[in-house]
Amino acid sequence: MLEKLSQMLTRKERQSNNENTVRDREALPAHIAVIMDGNGRWAKQRSLPRIAGHRAGMKTVKEIVKAADEIGIKILTLYAFSTENWKRPRDEVDFLMKLPQEFISTELDELIERNVCIRMVGSKEELPSFTRDALEKAERKTLNNTGLKLNFALNYGGRNEIVRAISEISQRVKEGGLEPEEITESLIAQHLYTREFPDPDLLIRTSGEIRLSNFMLWQMAYTELWFTDVLWPDFSKEDFYQAIADYQGRARRYGSV
Ligand code: IPE
Ligand code: IPE
Ligand code: MG
Repeated sequence: MLEKLSQMLTRKERQSNNENTVRDREALPAHIAVIMDGNGRWAKQRSLPRIAGHRAGMKTVKEIVKAADEIGIKILTLYAFSTENWKRPRDEVDFLMKLPQEFISTELDELIERNVCIRMVGSKEELPSFTRDALEKAERKTLNNTGLKLNFALNYGGRNEIVRAISEISQRVKEGGLEPEEITESLIAQHLYTREFPDPDLLIRTSGEIRLSNFMLWQMAYTELWFTDVLWPDFSKEDFYQAIADYQGRARRYGSV
């Protein structure tokens, strides 16, 4: 019966229904993390160069940021470039390094209007200066915004992040400012790139890959994982709301009963 009903709905009705399912319920995930994957395959399917997939993927970023903001998500963290992605062909890496600049120059005004606060999580040092400058400009200009927190994970690696934290903490111990007994989970969390943010409630990964690829290893201890075969350039607002609706149907136990 339900199945029949849903078959009868037009795509448009299903879409707004989808959104309503989410809106009607209070328990929105506060922090959503996304592994935006499948740009290369999307391009390949169309006999286009991989960079065409990344350009199409940027459009999806715009749409999903809007969708997250409209529904009242507090934190959205997008995995844009991993510490392992430097292994890609030079041309592709160069293109990916130019995207933040392009995104910021075309989108910053609207993001400011939306009261979005932009942050980069990851290691800035290895980035070309034009990439770093663009991100820092966006961070500076949106610093006091109180709306959606939009984090770009760029040159981000979960293991790299943990190594850095351990190294900083060891330094503090060595200098005598900290006792080994004072090393706690929350102290470690304070040394991560994500120190200001709660752990993600929901992780979305597109393109059918079922792995974390070094994304937020520490932070995702109890994150709900949601995978879809849809490639990132094809990922829609409706898919995003579906992920949230599915999240709302999950029972989070944190080891309890
Ligand atoms: C994700 O798409 C974007 C980045 C990793 C920068 P991919 O480029 O990984 O696309 P596929 O996985 O090759 O299809
Ligand atoms: C993860 O995707 C990194 C980003 C989406 C930025 P990859 O495409 O690099 O991951 P693997 O290589 O399939 O694990
Ligand atoms: Mg990939």
